[in-house]
Amino acid sequence: MPSVTDRYVPLDATILRDPYPVLAELRASEPVFWHEGMESWALTRYADCVRVLRDHATFARDPRRTGGTVAEPSLSVQSLDPPQQGRIRSLFMTALHAQDLAAIELRARRLVLGRLEDQADGEVFNAVSEIAVPLSVAVVADLLGVEPPPYAEFAAVSDAIMRSMDGGLDPSVVEPGRIARQQLSDLVESWFAASPQPGLLARVRASATGGDAHTRLYVKNTARVMFQGGYSTTAAAVGNAVHTLLTHPHALRQLRDRAVLATGVDELVRFDGPVQGTTRIAVRACRIGDVDIRPGQKVVPLFAAANRDPEAFTRPGQLVLDRTPNRHLGYGWGPHSCIGTTVAQAALRALITALNEHPAHLVPVGDGVRRRAATMRAFDTLPALLHR
Ligand code: HEM
Repeated sequence: MPSVTDRYVPLDATILRDPYPVLAELRASEPVFWHEGMESWALTRYADCVRVLRDHATFARDPRRTGGTVAEPSLSVQSLDPPQQGRIRSLFMTALHAQDLAAIELRARRLVLGRLEDQADGEVFNAVSEIAVPLSVAVVADLLGVEPPPYAEFAAVSDAIMRSMDGGLDPSVVEPGRIARQQLSDLVESWFAASPQPGLLARVRASATGGDAHTRLYVKNTARVMFQGGYSTTAAAVGNAVHTLLTHPHALRQLRDRAVLATGVDELVRFDGPVQGTTRIAVRACRIGDVDIRPGQKVVPLFAAANRDPEAFTRPGQLVLDRTPNRHLGYGWGPHSCIGTTVAQAALRALITALNEHPAHLVPVGDGVRRRAATMRAFDTLPALLHR
């Protein structure tokens, strides 16, 4: 029998189906372990993950702090570290707070209801392409104040970028990822070339005008990250949420209660969230658990493992829709935590409210197909039908 560390092969069919049992074994037996494929120290304990995410002085996001390089198009809020990152981050946060999220949520709810109306009674459809993709493209475009690109075309571009994040584990995804990134850049360039429409993009553009060339570059790159990253994580989260709701028969009914809806959208992300982990680089020697980490080594907090840590959550393997507090790591933690959390929460509420408002019930048809991706847990297809 291979050791438990050897059994954590993120692209393996068993792990794609259900990573949680192996992650639980790792947390119990070897909570900080060297992962050969990722060439990183992987962390499975909640407390270790939080420590790394918080301590940006020791654990860098920006590879240049340990002598690495970052390509110019990748310099964004995501790749910079404080204090440089803080300026760009607060520019985007301020612009986001100025948007009418309630109106965005209402439009998103109407969109989901419309998509459900379009499905013929009793006919099988793919909940990913018919609900998760349109909902997520529409919400992020609405937030930024841009025309939504054609749903399926944009999903294909974004999927190629997302898959290329696993380039270390699967080199064949690198080139399609490069081409897709160029297509995305062209799309974002076209928004910056056009006259601004009301929305987040107009605000950050206005704030960056008059700033130096670096600031303008970071703003453009961050807008790209927001659109593609925001879309791909939300689409994956919506797909996972639909699956969880379909496999927990009383959940949708419970979520009719507004208080349960408010906490439930977070529990859905804790229970089976899309982002499996993230990477930091140790800038100096340090120790996590029993392990000595050398400067320059990569450290990967595994959110999927931390979110089911019994030291941090009671009944971690159960869906507890009214769980409070619920300080899960599905949106990260610390200076790089998700900028779009409130937007994602609005999208998930829109989904659930629309499913509850629609007169027919959504019913699963078979298991669905999990995406072959390590960084992002998602479905490629999730067959369902509406039953009156
Ligand atoms: C359910 C949906 C979402 C999930 C689960 C999610 C998750 C995450 C996570 C885990 C991080 C931190 C990664 C790290 O520490 O390395 C992150 C960062 C980020 N997210 Fe999200 N996200 C979601 C939706 C969105 C949306 C809708 C937007 C924007 C419209 C967005 C924009 C960002 C940005 C810009 C960052 C980088 C922040 C920084 O580095 O300072 N996300 N997200």
